[in-house]
Amino acid sequence: MTTTTLTTRVAIIGAGPAGLLLANRLRVAGIDSIVIDARTRDQVEQTIRAGILEQGTVELLDEIAGSRARTVGHRHEGIELRFAGAGHRIDFDALVGRAVWLYPQHEVLRDLIAEALDAGQDLQFGVTAVEVEGAASDRPAVIAQTAEGEQLEIRAEFVVGADGSRSIARPVVTGSHGGYFREYPFAWFGILTEAPPSAPELIYSNSPDGFALISQRSADIQRMYFQCAPDADPAAFTEAQLWDELQKRVPGTTLKEGPIFQRDVLRFRSFVAYELRKGRVAIIGDAAHTVPPTGAKGMNLAAADVLVLERALRALLLENDERLIDAFAETALRRIWKAQHFSWWMTSMLHVQANSAGAGADASDFDRMRQLGELRSVVESEAGSRYLAEAYTGWPLG
Ligand code: PHB
Repeated sequence: MTTTTLTTRVAIIGAGPAGLLLANRLRVAGIDSIVIDARTRDQVEQTIRAGILEQGTVELLDEIAGSRARTVGHRHEGIELRFAGAGHRIDFDALVGRAVWLYPQHEVLRDLIAEALDAGQDLQFGVTAVEVEGAASDRPAVIAQTAEGEQLEIRAEFVVGADGSRSIARPVVTGSHGGYFREYPFAWFGILTEAPPSAPELIYSNSPDGFALISQRSADIQRMYFQCAPDADPAAFTEAQLWDELQKRVPGTTLKEGPIFQRDVLRFRSFVAYELRKGRVAIIGDAAHTVPPTGAKGMNLAAADVLVLERALRALLLENDERLIDAFAETALRRIWKAQHFSWWMTSMLHVQANSAGAGADASDFDRMRQLGELRSVVESEAGSRYLAEAYTGWPLG
């Protein structure tokens, strides 16, 4: 088989939010990169993921030509926590003077891809990374294969794995060590429905039947989730059953129903790799960590990683200064663990603790009452509410 060799300064595996945002910021700093992704452009642009952007993430996206996060996205100045039959608004604006934007990840990706291609970024879809070589040398490389079966060798000065939870770069960085890992005995059943919004802001609801999140996408499309067993079969529910499951978890609100045109089950995991860098290979975004979706932190954490790595790569590649890259993991991990805690906390506070039999199966009365006490501690205390508002809208980007 013939091998084509390409040369660039930074080889980035993965055209998700982390990889594309990093490529953009490096390009602006005058550092060339090649981005590859195993998926097609359509797959990248159409995969339904989460929808909440922290204020700092929107500010980063504002720097991308053509970003529609602020114009097409919706600014949300609070969320509702619902439990024990009552709703409690957490007013982000009043508590911390910040907000979040509802703008789906695949729209962020469309913006980033359009800008990258316009700016002449070398961005190759359908190219699968097979191996990362030479982490300990000054010339690491990514070995990859095109959809046509051609072998590519991308030689670079630095390799970044932004290639998601099944990262090919991660084992190069962590060796056999892996990472910190936690599983949860439940999952989310997610739907997209063609209906008007049921509420002006997101509702995070804790009910005896389990958790539900009433989110949105646009004036005509809504996203909703309810707590289910990890092995729930998306096809096993009729539309009427799905509405019933959702509705009983948000007592006090009559959900506006419409046709359900997409359904999926999201597994819950918390994960942080033991190492984020080895020599001239680093991992960012989901390759480095996973959070359960309750805190809406996934894409935002990826954006924060990008900022830390971008600065380190500028110092390394433009000034031959290794100090920031040596500090990269420690700097990034400070925020990662705060976000891990917040995501775990929101998850544990809002879901009915259950074994794998599913919602409601195993909650002891004590845990149930303790959880209500915890929720009251948050909504009845300005300090408690402010912590939630600070974490949800995002800690300052360093
Ligand atoms: C979503 O709209 O998909 C969404 C919103 C908030 C979350 C998770 C998912 O915490």
